Amino acid sequence: METIITKLANAGIIPVAAIKNVDYAVPLAAALRRGGLNCIEVTYRTEAAEESIRRISVAFPDMLVAAGTVLNNIQANSAVLAGASFIVTPGFNSAVVAHCLERKYPIIPGVCTPSEIEQAMGFGLKLLKFFPSEAIGGIKMINALAAPYSNVRFMPTGGINSTNVFDYLQCKNVLACGGSWMIPTEALNEGHFDIIEELTKKAVEIYNKVRGERNGV
Ligand code: 3PG
Repeated sequence: METIITKLANAGIIPVAAIKNVDYAVPLAAALRRGGLNCIEVTYRTEAAEESIRRISVAFPDMLVAAGTVLNNIQANSAVLAGASFIVTPGFNSAVVAHCLERKYPIIPGVCTPSEIEQAMGFGLKLLKFFPSEAIGGIKMINALAAPYSNVRFMPTGGINSTNVFDYLQCKNVLACGGSWMIPTEALNEGHFDIIEELTKKAVEIYNKVRGERNGV
C-alpha cells in the first residue's frame, strides 16, 4: 500500500474512466500518460472494465491501474487477476473490505460519514475515498473531518473538476483527487484522445501550481 500511496501523492490526480469500448482502453491510457498522468481508475460500470484493466496493465506495466466502483468480492478478484494494483469502492462495504484485506489486495474504500470513517479505521485503513465529495459537503466537510481524524487521508471524488481541484489539493488531509473531468464521455466514446490529453495536461498544470505553492515557489 505504501508504494501506491507514494504514487498517488506524486500524481495528485487520478482520472476515473468508464470505458465502453475495450479497444479504446490502451489509447486512453496512452493519452493520459502523454498528458502527464501515469494512473487511472477503471470503473466496473461497464462490461469492458476487466478486459480494459488487463490490456492497460499489459501495455503499461509501470502505470498505476485501479479498479473502481467495485461492489462485490467477485469484481475485486477479477480486477486483481486482470492486473489492478488496488481496489476502490464507492461506499463502505465491510464484506468487500474484509475480503480484500484477507487476500492482501490494497483497497481504498469509499466513506462519507464519520461513522464510516471509524469503521474503516477499525480495519486499519487510513486512506479513504471521500465520495460523492461535492454532494456531501466537499472541502468544508473534509476540513471538518481533519480535526477528529488527524491520521486519515482522503481521496475525494465526485464533482471535482478543473475549477475546484486546486482548492481540494490544498487540503492537508487530501492525498489525491479522483475525477472524470479529464475524460469526457463523448471524447472517450468517440475516440478523441487529443481532447483527453489536453484536459489531462491542464489538470497536471493545476497540481504543479499546488506543489509550487507548497514549496514556496
Ligand atoms: C467515481 O466513480 O469515482 C466518480 O463517479 C467520479 O466522479 P465524477 O464523475 O464526478 O468525477
